Amino acid sequence: MTQLCSPDGTPVSSLCFGAMQFGDRADATASREMYKACRAAGITFFDTAHVYTGGASETLLGQFVAPERDGLTIATKAGYTGGSSRANILATFEESRQRMKLDQIDILYLHRWDGAVPLAETFETLAQLQSDGKIRYIGVSNFAAWQVMKAQAVAADLGTRIDILQPMYNLVKKQAEVELLPMAQDQDIAVAPYSPLGGGLLTGKYASGGTGRLSEDSRYAARYAPDAMHKAARELSTLAAEVGHAPATLAVAWAKRHPGVTAPIISARNLEQLQPSLAAAALDLDEALYHRVSALYPAPPPATDRLEEA
Ligand SMILES: NC(=O)c1ccc[n+]([C@@H]2O[C@H](COP(=O)([O-])OP(=O)(O)OC[C@H]3O[C@@H](n4cnc5c(N)ncnc54)[C@H](OP(=O)(O)O)[C@@H]3O)[C@@H](O)[C@H]2O)c1
Repeated sequence: MTQLCSPDGTPVSSLCFGAMQFGDRADATASREMYKACRAAGITFFDTAHVYTGGASETLLGQFVAPERDGLTIATKAGYTGGSSRANILATFEESRQRMKLDQIDILYLHRWDGAVPLAETFETLAQLQSDGKIRYIGVSNFAAWQVMKAQAVAADLGTRIDILQPMYNLVKKQAEVELLPMAQDQDIAVAPYSPLGGGLLTGKYASGGTGRLSEDSRYAARYAPDAMHKAARELSTLAAEVGHAPATLAVAWAKRHPGVTAPIISARNLEQLQPSLAAAALDLDEALYHRVSALYPAPPPATDRLEEA
């Protein structure tokens, strides 16, 4: 599979760190501590977005990466608000560059599908940013597989390509396994999936009355509402205790293990929370443990029927 790398050729690490909490749930001090811990653990891949924390995420990340920028792969996203028009992408991307004080940002993702803007307009804009040297790779996030392939055909006509996907993917959100991950393997596209802990559910803390995003943010409460997801989180904690890892370590290592995954995007609000996710960098699940974790939550139905005849 194509290896994404930093401007000086350093390959992306097997974990990416997401700065979505920087400047909000993680203040500047906690953010810097987490950045330093990531670098000490060998992480070279960092993720943010124009829309995160009113710009503080990009601003803080830009400050932290400045002294060692060329050895890092830095991603941001455009178009979560305002759509994927040329005008919106160019305006928000310029703001992202200024916040981060970077001439070039390695990966620019479209944050989500925009059916209202012609793909040709969106991808001509991305191709131009690339040929101007302002971005190195094009990514898309929250796209369905058919949307990726449709956009990839438009990109190919312009002499470029989608290099990386950013779908949601964790033990209780396995939709990416059905079409996106096999497509990415077949098409040689990197994948940096987000929410490996299900927004914190898979740490096991909610089973013991803990609080966090699921109790504070109604979008996450709805996303992880089903009892079956909470049951899987409890069972993951039991299994993790049996094998001597934190549940979060096991959850991130599980997401990392899929052959279509390049680097799960880990995140936290402070250093203490971050440690078990970071520990997953050194944990390669063997086949038996991988299957035991997988079995804790059902896989979605396959993309086609009649597989019994194959
Ligand atoms: N493209 C997209 O649409 C999209 C969407 C979401 C995220 N992302 C990217 O992916 C990154 C990671 O996503 P995510 O934050 O959803 O990942 P996640 O790993 O599923 O959830 C991280 C959250 O879990 C909780 N947590 C983590 N470790 C913990 C611990 N040891 N003990 C207790 N709680 C713990 C914390 O939230 P609480 O303390 O609040 O519980 C933390 O912020 C983001 O930073 C962002 O860069 C992208």
